[in-house]
Amino acid sequence: MPGKIANATLVESGKLSYGWARTRMSIIERIAKGKRKPLEGFRVGFCLHVTKETSVLVMAAKELGAEVALCSANPLSVQDDIAAFLHGEGVAVYAWRNETQAEYKKCIRDVIAFKPDIVTDDGGDLHYAAHGAKARGIMGGTEETTSGVRRLSALEKSKKLRYPVIAVNNARTKYLFDNRYGTGQSTLDGILRATGMFLAGSRVVVCGYGWVGKGVAAMAHGMGAAVTVTEVDPIKALEAKMDGFAVAPLEKAAEQGDVFITCTGQTGVIRKEHFAKMKDGAILANTGHFDVEIDASFLYRNGRSVEVKPNVECFKFGGKKLYLLSKGRVVNLVAAEGHPPEVMALSFANQLASILHVAKNHASMEKKVHPVPESIDDAVARLALVAMSVEIDKPTAKQKKYQRG
Ligand code: ADE
Repeated sequence: MPGKIANATLVESGKLSYGWARTRMSIIERIAKGKRKPLEGFRVGFCLHVTKETSVLVMAAKELGAEVALCSANPLSVQDDIAAFLHGEGVAVYAWRNETQAEYKKCIRDVIAFKPDIVTDDGGDLHYAAHGAKARGIMGGTEETTSGVRRLSALEKSKKLRYPVIAVNNARTKYLFDNRYGTGQSTLDGILRATGMFLAGSRVVVCGYGWVGKGVAAMAHGMGAAVTVTEVDPIKALEAKMDGFAVAPLEKAAEQGDVFITCTGQTGVIRKEHFAKMKDGAILANTGHFDVEIDASFLYRNGRSVEVKPNVECFKFGGKKLYLLSKGRVVNLVAAEGHPPEVMALSFANQLASILHVAKNHASMEKKVHPVPESIDDAVARLALVAMSVEIDKPTAKQKKYQRG
């Protein structure tokens, strides 16, 4: 099998992790259930965080008949045992933990060289590289994240999008759960695994109050932290205030925070003027897709860094110590294992159903960013309720009539 991984002897550990995740992601199986081999004859190229949850999606695509290649959506997030397991199962895996930036890009090019018909990405790097290579032969794709959808919408706006893409991120059964509860939990998981700190009674500054920021703030509050939210959007700031959080400009919050978590999708959020105001011992973590939210390069240029624990670097800066987690990269996937399987089941059920939709309908789809069809979004919600043994009511005939007006 073509590919490049770190260590093939990790297969057994990867297989056990895959098995664990699969039993907790029954929705994926239900999406595939009863279908013959609708992906036979299709090559699917994936650029996703190489985790146990991703292995469940990739194996489902394979079981539906696809030939599959996979690279990582981040150079530091690969679970090497999962890469070994998938490679052993006949997936062309180009991924290992701690890829250099050049290796990361080469792995993406290797997936493009696999000549995928359909591409599934997390963040847009694969879509962008495919466009650089003129996207020859690609029928369509899907996109997992807010950051990736933003980049693809820009391509569409400038009339450069070369194939239709389904914005999986924008399905309600994706962003309402994965972005909020998934990132909320896994971000704190990453911070706690890295630092082992006690959260109750500390001041957590959450930068950005989109779905991710809402989830992170709620989880930090739930663990006893006092939360300050920083925002540039007045409506989101108002929401944070009415949700009971302190709201302040970062310049002020910088003086108070024990932990800072960026969740904005923006660049240059925490900068040198903020570092200068922070307390001795402040901890800095990012959970946005790209490592551009905390100006880590300023710290690397101006301070001496010592790795005091895995994923915790100490910088002596202006007579105090600041701690940067995971080099300013997605703390939930670098210092922990990403979102748990139960919530990734919702996102990846949307991915699988969207891949099937593209395989079936690509010829009639415009070269645009498309929403996930509502029928898929609804079906995923219903399957998730079944998986959680939750029953709900049906509207009566009278209620349906009343609603129609
Ligand atoms: N993004 C966030 N958590 C993830 C996970 N567990 N697997 C793949 N992508 C993710």
